[in-house]
Amino acid sequence: MSDQENALPEDPMWSELKLPDLLSTETVREVHATIEHKWDPLQRSACQTAAGRALWKHLIHDPLAGLLAGESYLKSLYEKIKKDRINNAREVSGVILAVRTLWFDSKLEAALKSFNSKEAQVVILGAGMDARAYRLSCLKDSDVFEVDFAEVLQVKTTLLQAAMDSTYERQHLTLKAKSLRRVAADIRDDDWLEKLEISGFVPEKNTIWILEGILYYLSHPHAMQVLKIIAEKCVLTPTVLLADFMNQPSTTLSSSIFHFYSDWPDHLLPSIGFSRVELSQIGDPDAHFGLMHDPLNLFNKLRSLPRSVQLNPDDGTPCCRLYLVQASGSPNQTIL
Ligand SMILES: C[S@@+](CC[C@H](N)C(=O)[O-])C[C@H]1O[C@@H](n2cnc3c(N)ncnc32)[C@H](O)[C@@H]1O
Repeated sequence: MSDQENALPEDPMWSELKLPDLLSTETVREVHATIEHKWDPLQRSACQTAAGRALWKHLIHDPLAGLLAGESYLKSLYEKIKKDRINNAREVSGVILAVRTLWFDSKLEAALKSFNSKEAQVVILGAGMDARAYRLSCLKDSDVFEVDFAEVLQVKTTLLQAAMDSTYERQHLTLKAKSLRRVAADIRDDDWLEKLEISGFVPEKNTIWILEGILYYLSHPHAMQVLKIIAEKCVLTPTVLLADFMNQPSTTLSSSIFHFYSDWPDHLLPSIGFSRVELSQIGDPDAHFGLMHDPLNLFNKLRSLPRSVQLNPDDGTPCCRLYLVQASGSPNQTIL
């Protein structure tokens, strides 16, 4: 293991789990009980990713993540991390999530800078407990739209209201984005774009689309429909898509939950209208953030194999890959 990874057990970050005080208040406890008992696994995945951001806080500054994740998801991930540290695991639980979040943050900031005009729109599909609008100052000239199921957005609003009512947590609730609108919609339906437009989305304005941890929950036709709707916007305005894609073997990790995959998103996206596509794998120079020094960790091993290889030659296990993809297009560009 690298020095940095070895240093983690002594890091006070991992030594004890400190739950946000607000989680013990009655309103917040009730909200999280509803999540546990009434939400389906798809919706609950929003709390799992928030727990990852909360526990990898030495790398990701997301002070609202713990409140949004809730006690049971924080405890469960914390126990996994603890076990991994004790066992000297090469891959500590949540590391994929940490890298993924940092990759999206850095690409979002770079994409905003790349636009000629300062003003932009950022649409987060399947936003869940994402708190970028409160944590990224690069969004100061951007209108942010969070799209998710009505129940998810309602609960998120209630939890953030509880933070607003608390003197201590309120300090984290300063909106960093120019504006934030929550749009209740199911992106499998035909009317989600219309709902987005009713909420103030302007098709002709520079737009960044964030699809983080969402595509593979959709069926193949639904995912393709969403991607095509976004690709169509390239002929109207400079458009950037940031998305993670599972390859086919990854969907076998939970075949009841994961559906859509693409082994070659860098071929798929140009075929539907994006002119430029860049693909990274976890561990690549723009997707390691100092966390992937060990050449023998799973991600570095996968990167050393051609992407066409689906079974690991060492042990026959499936090569489960998560591709981090940036695609873009604009009215002036020709499709390559
Ligand atoms: C794994 S979470 C990711 C949340 C967030 N993007 C993040 O990275 O923390 C998936 C989110 O997608 C939402 N979602 C799944 N299917 C959806 C659909 N058909 N329409 C709208 N939202 C959906 C879920 O409710 C959940 O909040």
